[in-house]
Amino acid sequence: MSVLTVTYHPNSLLRATLLPVELGALQSPGIQKMIDTMVETMFAKNGIGIAANQVGKNHQIAILNTAEGPVIIINPRITKLSILKENGEEGCLSVPGLFGMVRRHRSLTLSAYDRHGKSFTMKARGLLARVIQHEVDHLNGILFQSIDVVGVLTQPDKPAGRGYHLIESPIKRLARRYKLPIYQPLTVTDPSSIELLSGLSLDVVVLAAYGELIPKKLLSLPRCGWLNVHASLLPRLRGASPIQHALLEGYTETGITLMKMVEKLDAGPVIAKSVILVDKDDTAGSLHDKLALLGAKCIEEYLIAYLTDRRPITEQDHEQATYCKKIRSSDARIDWHASADEINRLVRAMNPAPGAFTQFNGNQVKIFAIETFQHEVIGPPGTVGGVGAHLVVSSGTRPLHILSLQLPGKKKVTGAEFINGHRNILPFSFV
Ligand code: NI
Repeated sequence: MSVLTVTYHPNSLLRATLLPVELGALQSPGIQKMIDTMVETMFAKNGIGIAANQVGKNHQIAILNTAEGPVIIINPRITKLSILKENGEEGCLSVPGLFGMVRRHRSLTLSAYDRHGKSFTMKARGLLARVIQHEVDHLNGILFQSIDVVGVLTQPDKPAGRGYHLIESPIKRLARRYKLPIYQPLTVTDPSSIELLSGLSLDVVVLAAYGELIPKKLLSLPRCGWLNVHASLLPRLRGASPIQHALLEGYTETGITLMKMVEKLDAGPVIAKSVILVDKDDTAGSLHDKLALLGAKCIEEYLIAYLTDRRPITEQDHEQATYCKKIRSSDARIDWHASADEINRLVRAMNPAPGAFTQFNGNQVKIFAIETFQHEVIGPPGTVGGVGAHLVVSSGTRPLHILSLQLPGKKKVTGAEFINGHRNILPFSFV
């Protein structure tokens, strides 16, 4: 008897849509042998079903363990589903140790081929219908959903805009779309927040950019603690503005750290890290969006493994820690005596908010995009002039070309548009 190794989540084949089997190839000894070993593996592991990707094979083949013996389904299609659904507890050989309630259709009709390429249909209800849905999901790269999101914690709605209308956080809008319970305590240290979280009997809380320190009392409430998605490769850049500081400091790579939270800020043990390269045109905005996606992927990949003790956590090297404070608007002021590279990094780090700024005629001018410019120096640092259609400014080193800027109360304009509107005053100086 031979038994195959079962692949575990987050193996990428478990997330793939598997290739249909060519019926002509079914008679090959290789495929027939594979079907036999899948059956043997299912029995050896006490499974009530198994799909080919669970043993590392890319074929639309699954085995069902039925009262009448194993049923082989090849290229299966569910052709009819009952409207009625029911809850039932499920587990999966590929996600050991995890069980959860899954809502499935109560009965269905299945069309498939048997191991000799003969087509057949079967009707199933109850447990068998559940097993079929689970296995057909596997063949389409869907793992059973065992994580039950019991609530979404987000900041209270904040007034914004001229009318001071209350604005919902994006996470709240998403939670409403999925009809999840939403909690918006004024502060998490409030006794009512503690009561609320205790009442949910949580396994874990996953936190990203919540904007409030979580007290120790709360950290110990969920069975597996609180996880934080932090936008740097810890222990570097602990603190409030890791994305801006990765740009300010000219990092060529940064990333996401998924860690278990401890009382000390961003100092908890690490569950996973994921690296991305910083593009030379990246702004805080573009890097934020890339890291947000990477963070979501990181949770998808490692949360279940962490919850089932299959993901070791490692202490950070605290000696190597660096820190970054919240960005204040005064941090965004451009010093034209700095080097062209430093100014370029500042402009990218402050885009979109608060926006790097300088002064002109007593007005604050925001600069959103700038690049170094191959040209001789046009004057002392801060001197602004037109070179052809290019709006050029001197720095402590090479000149820079201003691509996008904004005067108070005006729309953003390109450097060329600014030259057209201010030709009579050029050259002048930013301070
Ligand atoms: Ni499974």
